[in-house]
Amino acid sequence: MPKVVYVSPDGERHVVDAVAGESAMATAVRHGVPGIVGECGGNASCATCHVYVRDDLLARLGEPGDLEEDLLDLAVTERRTGSRLSCQIELTEELDGLTVDIPPVQP
Ligand code: FES
Repeated sequence: MPKVVYVSPDGERHVVDAVAGESAMATAVRHGVPGIVGECGGNASCATCHVYVRDDLLARLGEPGDLEEDLLDLAVTERRTGSRLSCQIELTEELDGLTVDIPPVQP
């Protein structure tokens, strides 16, 4: 069971057990992690699931798809290296320990 660490803007860490195959957004919402809203239900159309993925596992995620790329460009408050839509991150055992920072503001 992969673990995911969500770090709030104030540094509080939320360590949760994920289910392989579930998205990082759905996992956060299911566990009540504050700051990840998932308003569109994972359809890559709201950007309220934006996170900053830390370097160590970023390369394993592959590149964002076109839809995700557009939304990151247009909708997020501040795009940085590691910016991803957590609804587009499918959790697997290989992503155990994935750590993401939650932005201070969502769209
Ligand atoms: S939940 Fe809406 S873009 Fe991810």
